[in-house]
Amino acid sequence: DTKKTWSGRFNEPVSALVERYTASVSFDQRLTEYDIQGSLAHAQMLAEQGIISAADLTAIQQGMQQIRDEIRNHQFVWLQELEDVHLNIEKRLTALVGDAGKRLHTGRSRNDQVATDIRLFLRTAIDEIISLIKAMQHALLSLAEQHIHTIMPGFTHLQVAQPVSFGHHLMAYFEMLKRDVERLTDCRKRVNQLPLGAAALAGTSYPINRERVAQLLDFEAVCQNSLDAVSDRDFAIEFSACAALIMTHLSRMSEEFILWMNPAFGFIQLADRFCTGSSIMPQKKNPDVPELVRGKTGRVNGHLVALLTLMKAQPLAYNKDNQEDKEPLFDTVDTLTDTLRIYADMLGGVRVNQETMRASALRGYATATDLADYLVKKGIPFRDAHEIVAKAVQFAEQKGCDLSKLELNELQQFSIQIESDIFAVLTLEGSMNSRNHTGGTAPEQVQAAIQKAKAWLPWK
Ligand code: ARG
Repeated sequence: DTKKTWSGRFNEPVSALVERYTASVSFDQRLTEYDIQGSLAHAQMLAEQGIISAADLTAIQQGMQQIRDEIRNHQFVWLQELEDVHLNIEKRLTALVGDAGKRLHTGRSRNDQVATDIRLFLRTAIDEIISLIKAMQHALLSLAEQHIHTIMPGFTHLQVAQPVSFGHHLMAYFEMLKRDVERLTDCRKRVNQLPLGAAALAGTSYPINRERVAQLLDFEAVCQNSLDAVSDRDFAIEFSACAALIMTHLSRMSEEFILWMNPAFGFIQLADRFCTGSSIMPQKKNPDVPELVRGKTGRVNGHLVALLTLMKAQPLAYNKDNQEDKEPLFDTVDTLTDTLRIYADMLGGVRVNQETMRASALRGYATATDLADYLVKKGIPFRDAHEIVAKAVQFAEQKGCDLSKLELNELQQFSIQIESDIFAVLTLEGSMNSRNHTGGTAPEQVQAAIQKAKAWLPWK
């Protein structure tokens, strides 16, 4: 019997196209487990409140167990004419247990039901994503720890700026991901509120106990307004924004890996299993994985915009527009979890060419600021020192060497304040070691940052 549960007042069936256009079961069947959990909690509360009998509850529980088994064994027949996951399950339940199945929907609507399902789905996804981020941070930390003293050119405008510790550079991503975890943790509180009990939009006349359902499903609280409970998807938008930021962070790291792998940089190599070759050019080894991460950031950011646009200007309360929230959310969760998994693995296979990094830092006058700071410490105003060093850089450039390779008398042409102690200042190590304060690149500080990070990250 596939007669629509709501067809009582209709005189003609929907067309095949309308049926396909309005159905969501092809994708929302992914919510099955959450739908069943929500139904079981609702039924238990109905029984505890004397709204359905204990016998009905037992029948519903047994029927749901069988449905779970059928789905697990791929025996469950999903029907498009039954629209969505909710009606497919309810119909099957009724076929299995009769009137008890028809009583399950007492005091409930698909509107509060679907909002509950998505919240349960997202809550689980958030927990999974947080643990995947932490696994990636773990991988970042072990790489950073090996490279506290490895010197690379730090860049601004992608031009050599000042020498930094490679470990320090990696720890910048640790900080970004830490904020991502904090954002998700905060978002989870607003996801974890129970809509059930709002029914279609106004609540229900049965003597329900929403707090009990919240307790059974492990929600922190119940949504405080029935219209809001069924209609807003701000929690999903917020999750999507968190996801977009995580992908955006990973896209930055990907862009760096792609550049660093280019022989013109030659800073790192990725393990072969993250690269592919070319079908025409035999010499190629392409960084496909980071390139795809960069590309997939576009779709996750796009889903955020899709959800914002979906919600924009919707009148209260539930509108069918909201059925469109699922595919972007599912794809966001899938893209993000796959990306995080692959990244943690990829970081373990990064090989670092320390000599190339160092040589690159030496080529770009990375210690010019240190020379200016040296002059300032001798009493020269910073702006004048800047000018003096710019001239010295110009001179070294013409000579085709680094500042540290100029003779003392050559340097003294630009300022007689320069003495032989300058050569310690102009080394890459001297420059890096001198930035010795919280957040600076001196190895001592990078070590401290790694210790703090370890204390923050539960060690798994
Ligand atoms: N499939 C619907 C959705 O995803 C479930 C809620 C339908 N409610 C309704 N009144 N048609 O939003």
